[in-house]
Amino acid sequence: MGGNGSDDPATERKLLRVLKGHSLSPPPVWMMRQAGRYLPEYREARQKAGSFLDLCYNPDFAVEVTLQPIRRFGFDAAILFSDILVVPHALGRDLRFVEGHGPQMTPIRPDEIAGVGDGQDFHAHLAPVYETVSRLKRELPPETTLIGFCGAPWTVATYMIAGRGPPDQAPSRLFGYRDPDAMSALLDRLAVVSAEYLVRQIDAGADVVQIFDSWAGVLDEANFERWCVAPVAEIVRRVRSVHPDVPIIGFPRGAGSLYTDYRHKTGVTALGLDWSVPLSQARSLQRGGAVQGNLDPLRVVAGGRALDEGVDAILEALSDGPLIFNLGHGITPETPIRHVEQMLRRVRG
Ligand code: CP3
Repeated sequence: MGGNGSDDPATERKLLRVLKGHSLSPPPVWMMRQAGRYLPEYREARQKAGSFLDLCYNPDFAVEVTLQPIRRFGFDAAILFSDILVVPHALGRDLRFVEGHGPQMTPIRPDEIAGVGDGQDFHAHLAPVYETVSRLKRELPPETTLIGFCGAPWTVATYMIAGRGPPDQAPSRLFGYRDPDAMSALLDRLAVVSAEYLVRQIDAGADVVQIFDSWAGVLDEANFERWCVAPVAEIVRRVRSVHPDVPIIGFPRGAGSLYTDYRHKTGVTALGLDWSVPLSQARSLQRGGAVQGNLDPLRVVAGGRALDEGVDAILEALSDGPLIFNLGHGITPETPIRHVEQMLRRVRG
């Protein structure tokens, strides 16, 4: 490796240094959902593209909206603009984004699971995503790290099973209790294709990948092991067999005390923390490697003291260890842009 991929601290990108276990002050910073509706330039591109999926599958638009928050705020990382649900879409499941209602899919039946994706050209469907990654690699400033991503099998499965996401994920939890073999088969299939998907993103130029397990927090301990930890460990194993050195960030949102062994059991490089993780716990998790997070996005909506105090508490607790400053979940559409600027000034000092 040369240039920015090197071990030379003078040229290596900040995010990659932290992922190797170094502590940087100020820490590198980016935000989940940093390309999104709180930006007028995003809303304009979205209007021009037509639908949300047109935005995801058109590299001209996807590159443009990925770059928007980098131009405006100079974040240390850009995250590929796409969605976790393009994976089941590429397996032939239907997918609609209904204005104001989020994603909707036709619930998969147990008897459809064995053949899911058969006859579909998965990678041809996702070719525009790979094209977006390789263009981004060329167009991003050299100091900006490019993050690729996928959804964790459990979280993707919840949308495939329920059609959309009720907050307790009751349909998917029941599905797992009533038909554990079908659940296993579905998660195994998703782990295989998701690993291939991440490998292709890395081939195209992603420096780091993140695995989003947004619904990890609804499972009991046994099923957390079985439906969250095991499939993510399988993805990590498969990605590492091709790209042993690419850092992987795991984000098991809501995992609570089950965060403790997650890094060890899955093999992820870094832990993405949601805002409910106490900073004392975050500090002990940091002994095992880098952590990313975990400002409550509503502090950025509120601004003022709530925002300053939230930023300060994280920096005070975590900035003498490997930290990537981020939110504890995605930024929300009603966030004022000046509050994002306030957050960045506070983080960067
Ligand atoms: O972070 C980024 O800027 C990269 C892009 C990105 C999107 N979705 C764009 C998006 C990423 C990494 C995702 C991941 C994703 N998608 C997750 C995991 C992270 C999380 O938020 O928990 C999940 C669960 C999804 C599924 C999904 N996509 C939902 C539930 C929704 C509706 C929520 C909403 O805000 O409307 C989406 C739509 C979506 N994905 C939008 C964006 C910018 C809003 C779409 C729009 O413009 O109308």
